[in-house]
Amino acid sequence: MCGIVAYVGSKQCQDLMLEGLKRLEYRGYDSAGIATMHNGKINVVKTIGRVANLEDKLETVGGVRGTIGMCHTRWATHGGVTDPNAHPHTDDRAGICLIHNGIIENYASLKTYLQEKGHVFKSQTDTEVLAMLIGELYDGDLEAAVQAALREVTGAYGIVVMCEKEPETLVAARKGSPLMVGVGNGEFVIASDGSAIIAHTSHAFSLEDYQVVKVTPKGFRTSTIHNVPVTPKVQQLEIDLEQIELGSFSHFMQKEIFEQPKALRNTLRGRTDIREGKIVLGGVGSFAKQLTMAKRIVLTGQGTALHAATIGEYLIEDLARIYSVAEYGSEFRYRNPIIEENTVVVAVSQSGETADTLAALIEAKERGALALGVVNVVGSSIARETDAGVYLRVGPEIGVASTKAFTGQVAVLTLVALYLARRRHMSADQCADMIRELEQVPDKMERILEDDARVRTVTEKYIDRDNWLFLGRGYNYPTALEGALKLKEISYIHAEGMPAAEMKHGPIALINDGMPAVFIANRGRQYEKVISNIQEVKSRGGRIIAVATEGDEHIKTLADDVFYVPDVPECLSPMLTVVPLQLMAYHAALLRGHDVDKPRNRAKSVTVE
Ligand code: AGP
Ligand code: GLU
Repeated sequence: MCGIVAYVGSKQCQDLMLEGLKRLEYRGYDSAGIATMHNGKINVVKTIGRVANLEDKLETVGGVRGTIGMCHTRWATHGGVTDPNAHPHTDDRAGICLIHNGIIENYASLKTYLQEKGHVFKSQTDTEVLAMLIGELYDGDLEAAVQAALREVTGAYGIVVMCEKEPETLVAARKGSPLMVGVGNGEFVIASDGSAIIAHTSHAFSLEDYQVVKVTPKGFRTSTIHNVPVTPKVQQLEIDLEQIELGSFSHFMQKEIFEQPKALRNTLRGRTDIREGKIVLGGVGSFAKQLTMAKRIVLTGQGTALHAATIGEYLIEDLARIYSVAEYGSEFRYRNPIIEENTVVVAVSQSGETADTLAALIEAKERGALALGVVNVVGSSIARETDAGVYLRVGPEIGVASTKAFTGQVAVLTLVALYLARRRHMSADQCADMIRELEQVPDKMERILEDDARVRTVTEKYIDRDNWLFLGRGYNYPTALEGALKLKEISYIHAEGMPAAEMKHGPIALINDGMPAVFIANRGRQYEKVISNIQEVKSRGGRIIAVATEGDEHIKTLADDVFYVPDVPECLSPMLTVVPLQLMAYHAALLRGHDVDKPRNRAKSVTVE
């Protein structure tokens, strides 16, 4: 979901802003642009394509000078991917220049109003309407014009605005699309997230919804869109550059797959007390009792996060014996959901900015639910909206395809399920046994990762197949969904995940000679049933790729290829069985020549509906 970087200070800012913008490329985009203020004039350069294309274009025009500026990567929502639709956008009267992350929902009515006022538009975007509106309302005070315009707007925005009549001023504002303000020594860096700020300063604050900040080289002022002054909380950014560098890996996705054992150890650290046989969740705080007394738990998320949430549903029901259900945030929010007393909503999200998940969380809270966050990005919108939370602590996830965040989400949901179980019926010894098993998962993951070369060889055998099935049962039905999503979102191969039993109710018609069917067939309650499903596919010419438990010799008689994972209690198995699927997707994307970290059309965080 595009990116924003802006600068106010004493340095020439073109290159430092572009360096920051490259740190946001992982968020996914289709165009890029930059604007700087120099000698009272705003210079804009923009283009479709990558930041590298923008750098080439800057080269041809000799670059842009200035110590105040902004740059942007666009993920198109309104208007095609064209140069005129790229940001920044300018108005036609007051020397306004603006970049925007989000959607102006009432742009059409505003555009009609502005056209009737004689404004001439150059693009098809909703963003240009906001630039024109600010220009229309400008009366010598940029901050006031931005506040007035935003009072007229509905939708989501993270914006940065400059005006040629106020060459030392930059104004930024936020509603729904995150913006952070880095407070340096005589300089300020405004960006979509901390990874573009940390190289300049570790002191930063997040703008809250409906907040505006005016920045000049002399300082900043924060207020609401109604011009009510607010005092932001400047915090210490906890990102170290090493975490957002590739290191010796070829791609961030590869790095993050191989980081999972270390990330998981961070997730578990300090949260398991094997001696006392209990789970320690500091982030639950004073809500421990209310959480423990929950009668119903609704888990919500999108994409990979929803798959983790579905595993959470099985874990909480199985271990804590609380009625649980996982729901798409996008569906839950509009369904007029029933939220009874003692309901807990659990929002699962890596970025903490997914619009549908945030909206579902707010909807459930307004109906009386207690809100628990399972989020990776500290201080993100979802994290700030919840009553309590358990951070993943897996470190920044840069690759668009979520990997370590998924296993981190499943690990946290396992901790939550054990926490609830122990406070309700589970004995200390039972909990200690589960903790012992859980703490061995990272080492067992490392053993699977050693099989990477063979995963690539096996993947190559099927790389020309355009339709794959992923099938699993119980705890590994959501893992099958996750394996299918991983494959399709970076290799563009069509893949469908489903409960293994469901295949007979229609999808079996798809099976043709040589079609790859990936079965998660590890030791578990339904192993024999999965074996039957394998035989049903095999007898129709399908090719069987199985993920099985070490030592299972029988599976070799049925499957064309087998990836083994170490034995582990079934409820903990998704953290292991998913690893070969992640590696397969990674190698399939490479073998098909695609951009693993920035797959087409994708965004790392979908902050629009
Ligand atoms: C999965 O690989 C994708 N990155 C996507 O499905 C993602 O999980 C989804 O958009 C939710 O994002 P979130 O976890 O940041 O809320
Ligand atoms: N809605 C704006 C556009 O389509 C901004 C999209 C974005 O967030 O990049 O240009």
